[in-house]
Amino acid sequence: MSDIINGDIINGGIVLTGDRPTGCLHLGHYVGSLKNRLILQENNEVFIVVADTQVINNDITKAKDVKKNTIEVMKDYLSIGLNPNKVTFFLQSEILELFELTNYLSNLVTLPQVMRNPTIKAENEIYNKSLTMGFLNYPVSQAADIILLNGEYVPVGEDQLPILEFSNDLIEKFNYTFETDLFKKIKPIISDNSRLLGLDGKNKMSKSLGNAISLSDNEKLVNEKIYQMFTDPDHIKISDPGKIEGNVVFMFLDIFHKDKSEIDLLKLKYQEGGLGDVFLKKMLMKDLKDFLDPIREQRNALTDEYVLNILQEGTMKVKSIAKKRMDVIKSLIFK
Ligand code: TRP
Repeated sequence: MSDIINGDIINGGIVLTGDRPTGCLHLGHYVGSLKNRLILQENNEVFIVVADTQVINNDITKAKDVKKNTIEVMKDYLSIGLNPNKVTFFLQSEILELFELTNYLSNLVTLPQVMRNPTIKAENEIYNKSLTMGFLNYPVSQAADIILLNGEYVPVGEDQLPILEFSNDLIEKFNYTFETDLFKKIKPIISDNSRLLGLDGKNKMSKSLGNAISLSDNEKLVNEKIYQMFTDPDHIKISDPGKIEGNVVFMFLDIFHKDKSEIDLLKLKYQEGGLGDVFLKKMLMKDLKDFLDPIREQRNALTDEYVLNILQEGTMKVKSIAKKRMDVIKSLIFK
């Protein structure tokens, strides 16, 4: 069987992706990227980097929470069904060759090139702080993650696309400068639902904006969040006609409710008037309970020690790959 993503058949490739351990992963991560990883792990070699160095590049004050969050993110991965027999998980800060490669690659990048990158611009607004050297270099470090492991396919959320374009420019520049074709172009894999909105209906789901439902939230908390979800502010009485566009509850039902034709009928009824938000929200509560219960159960069975062991094993494997690959890269630079 082959994996078909973005219309491409993906089979036998190297997949590299990762997340920053800044907290528990949420439903936006799930629909934007994690879901694709579950498919890809079946027929491809998958590497997942826990990007702890990148957290520090983004915001040094977050350093104190990185260890705890690394455990949480590993639990998220394993509880949704990423299989450690199929996926190699590794810790970014442990792979010294990544720092080495980042240094070499950063000589091929200009400051204006980084400053005009849309991901960098958007993230700098979120973190709203002075631009450190570490922050500006993080796209280079992310390119190094991919290049060092020879990643061909990179599943990410849509907001990360400019970083991947940047990585491809960097690959081209490296090949040209050192007269090689060692580095292959990378192909982003974007999910159909890569921009899941948060509870507020205004912004993309994001933990830092406080509009997220985490994979590890308990049922009560999820239900409270669903009650807060943005619907149609003009839909006041049940008999009022309601709008589907921008209505977060429908957006979620489209993704999580199994019976699509039932949702189509409910949408018609909602637009005509006569269908209340509470009815829809209760339906969504049930859908998210069905989706999250098995994940919570899996998570409860995982100990810190177990997940750290998995991470360590993967990191050891990557260390040996990294060393060999770095030797090749250096032989191209220092001829
Ligand atoms: N920047 C990515 C994120 O915020 C995490 C990441 C680090 C990554 N290295 C990567 C993603 C390499 C893809 C490939 O989610």
